[in-house]
Amino acid sequence: MERISVLIVEDNLDKRAEIVNILSSVEYIDKVREASSGEEVKEMLEGAEPGSEPNVIVMEASLPDDGYRLAETISTSYPWIPVIMIEEELKEDTVRSAIFAGAKDVLLYPLNPGKLVEAIYRSFEAEKKKTLRKDQPTVLRKKARQGQVITVFSTKGGVGKTFVATNLAVSLALHGKKKVVLVDLDLDLGNAALAFNIVPRYNISDIINEIRNLDRDLMESYLIPHQSGIKILAANTQPGMGEFINAEHIELIIKVLQELFDYIVLDMPSRLQDPVAPALHEAEMLLLLVTQDVATIRNIKACLVSLHAMNYPRHKIKLVLNKTESRSDIRVKDIEATLNQGLFGILPAEHKIASSSLNKGTPVVQLHPRAKISRSFRHLARQIAGAGENGSAAAPGGTVSSRGKGRKQEGEIE
Ligand SMILES: Nc1ncnc2c1ncn2[C@@H]1O[C@H](COP(=O)(O)OP(=O)(O)OP(=O)(O)O)[C@@H](O)[C@H]1O
Ligand SMILES: [Mg+2]
Repeated sequence: MERISVLIVEDNLDKRAEIVNILSSVEYIDKVREASSGEEVKEMLEGAEPGSEPNVIVMEASLPDDGYRLAETISTSYPWIPVIMIEEELKEDTVRSAIFAGAKDVLLYPLNPGKLVEAIYRSFEAEKKKTLRKDQPTVLRKKARQGQVITVFSTKGGVGKTFVATNLAVSLALHGKKKVVLVDLDLDLGNAALAFNIVPRYNISDIINEIRNLDRDLMESYLIPHQSGIKILAANTQPGMGEFINAEHIELIIKVLQELFDYIVLDMPSRLQDPVAPALHEAEMLLLLVTQDVATIRNIKACLVSLHAMNYPRHKIKLVLNKTESRSDIRVKDIEATLNQGLFGILPAEHKIASSSLNKGTPVVQLHPRAKISRSFRHLARQIAGAGENGSAAAPGGTVSSRGKGRKQEGEIE
C-alpha cells in the first residue's frame, strides 16, 4: 500500500499533538509534518523538492493568519495537494467558506479519529485518480517549454502601453515566426481587443471562474485568435470584475501561458495594483515606456526609484521612448541622463497612422508595414528576440541598443 505524507497546520499545540497522535498509529500514513502558520506552510511548499511535498494537508480553519485564505492559496498554486479543513463548529457560513477556498473535506473538533483517517485516505485516493485520468494534470513543475514574458508598463497613462504591446506582439509573431499571446492585464479598463477590432467572447474572468481546473487545453479555449497569428486574452468586459482577481490567479495564468507560447506580451494598467504584480516578477523584460514630456519623465524617474527600492533586477528594465518627436526640446540624451539609463528602444510619433489603425482595428505593423513606426517595431522585436545587432540595423526612428556602446544619440532618432 502506498504511504501518505501529511502536513498538519494547527497553531494550538494540544490539538496538533492530538492529530499527530491519531495519525501515528496508522500504518500507511508517514512523514507527518507540522506547521502553525500560513507563512510556515508557504515556505515549506516553496522550498520543497519536487515529489517531497505532502500528499494531503490537514488544516485548522481559524488560524490567526486566516485558514481559508491559506487553503485558497494552496488549492490555486498546488492544486494537486488536497486540503482538509477542521472547523470549531458546524456553521453554514464556515462550511461554505471552506468549500469556496477549495477544501476537499471538512471535519469538526473534537475530532473523530476514524473520520480524520478516512478523510485523508479518500482525498488522497481521489487526487491519485484525477492524476491518472488526466494525461497532463495541472502540474506546472514539468515545463516542456518556457515562454518569455515581456511586460509593457508605465506608471503614466496614455503613453502608448496598449499601442506598443499590441504592435510588438504582432511583430514578434509575423517577423520572428513565434507563438505569441497578448494578455490585457488592464483588468477593468483594458481595451487591447479593440485594437484588433475584436469583441471578445471570453475574457480573463472566465478563466478565473475555472481557475481550479486550469490547464493548457482550458486556457487555449479562452484565447481569441487574430489573423496576424497571435492569440489574445482579453480583459474584463464588465468593470468591477477585477476585484475577484488576485496575484495568485495571474501568476498561474502566466505560468500556463509560458507552456504554450514563445512570448507572452502583457499590456499593463498604469497603476501597479496587487493582482498584476506577478507581471513584473515573471517578466524577462520590463519595457518601461516614457514620452518626451517633463511630467512623464519625472513620473518614470519616480517609478525607477520605486523599482530599485524593491530590488527589482535592473537588467530587466528596458526603457522605451514612445511618440518621439525629432523637433522636441527634450533630447534623447537629456532623458537618458535624467533617468540614468540608456534607452533600449525609440518609437516615433505617427499620429495619423496610429489613429487610423485604432479606427480600423488593425495594428499599424499590418496596416502600414512600410511606415517608420512599423520598421521601428520590427527592430524592437528583433532586439527582443536577440536577433538585432547592436542597433546597427536600426530603421530611421529605430531603436538604440544600450548606453554608451558606441551608440549615437540624437542622430539615431531621425
Ligand atoms: N507612437 C505613437 N504615435 C502616435 N500615437 C501614438 C503612439 N503610441 C500611442 N499613440 C496613441 O496614444 C494614445 C494612447 O495610447 P494607448 O492607449 O496605447 O496608451 P496606454 O498607455 O495604454 O493608455 P492607458 O494608460 O489609458 O492604458 C492612443 O490614441 C494611441 O493611438
Ligand atoms: Mg492601455
